[in-house]
Amino acid sequence: MKILGIESSCDETAASVVKDGIHVLSNVVASQIDEHKLYGGVVPEIASRRHAENIDRVVKAALKEAQTSIDDIDAVAVTYAPGLIGALLVGISYAKGICLSTGKPLIPVHHIAGHIAANYITHEDLKPPYLCLVISGGHSHIVEVLDYTKYRVVGRTRDDAAGECFDKVARTIGFFYPGGKYIDEAALKGDENAYKFPHPKVTGSKYDFSFSGLKTSVINLVHNMRQKGEEINQSDISASFQKTVCEILTGKTMLAANDTGAKVLAVAGGVSANSGVRSAFEQQCRENGIKLYLPELKYCGDNAAMIACQGFFDFKAEKTAALDLNGIATLSLDEISV
Ligand code: KG4
Ligand code: ZN
Repeated sequence: MKILGIESSCDETAASVVKDGIHVLSNVVASQIDEHKLYGGVVPEIASRRHAENIDRVVKAALKEAQTSIDDIDAVAVTYAPGLIGALLVGISYAKGICLSTGKPLIPVHHIAGHIAANYITHEDLKPPYLCLVISGGHSHIVEVLDYTKYRVVGRTRDDAAGECFDKVARTIGFFYPGGKYIDEAALKGDENAYKFPHPKVTGSKYDFSFSGLKTSVINLVHNMRQKGEEINQSDISASFQKTVCEILTGKTMLAANDTGAKVLAVAGGVSANSGVRSAFEQQCRENGIKLYLPELKYCGDNAAMIACQGFFDFKAEKTAALDLNGIATLSLDEISV
């Protein structure tokens, strides 16, 4: 079965053809980052306009790269939630247009479910149930993946997402948006013990994250240094900050793994590309006898292969939509699991 996946929830217009859920025949991503970085973050209206301009060319490129035509596609999977509403509606409307004219099934895919599915592409042996940490620009979740289409969120961020924290710290120390990858590169050259940043105290759920205190602490440090005319060492701040993020992420996730008895852990989302995060989880999982799955770097950030992959499992679970499908800006994984 061949599924065309379409993703437009934020600042990447993406299309992909995936065969039988995991065989990626094409994966085309048109990034808008060069334009958004002029503003230090994603400007929703610009994102919607660029999706509208790019989507036809991106879908056609994905079909061409897969050496297939729309007639050979069995269904269209599209991200419908969560995300920027104007951006989501471009992908949804385009997908509906294909389904209206061809009669093919329309599969609505949850963006976070798509990130989780990215690991199935790389690891054919990964099967639910398992625990998954999803860390992206908009989300930080610890999720029990009960089945391919059923989830239980056990921990979430109370404020900033992990990627958002990377991006805000990056901007403070002088990197372009989105700065996660620049922090990653700078951290390799820095001293991770140069600065001591705080770990958050989160009351209530012991698996919930908080990143705003850490972000504020780095911002205050940098402002103080600037006022005193001290030189900002980007590498040392990056290394110390990244080490703290890794400790927070591994601390909460390993606690959840221990309490739920999980022996398999997956990490997904844009921040799972971070080299420090990857090695911290490799070490923790080795020490705790947990099997770890990490996505290939090209499937960490937003892409449509993960949407087509999850679309395959949603289709098998008969989760298709009519042509009145709407976009939803905020929608928890728990709500689609009922
Ligand atoms: O999953 P994603 O592409 O989009 C969302 O669904 O939000 O994640 C984007 C986030 C950005 O915050 C970006 O800075 C971060 O992932 N990111 C990284 C790295 N590569 C991307 N953060 C840390 N280290 C990286 N190497
Ligand atoms: Zn994403």
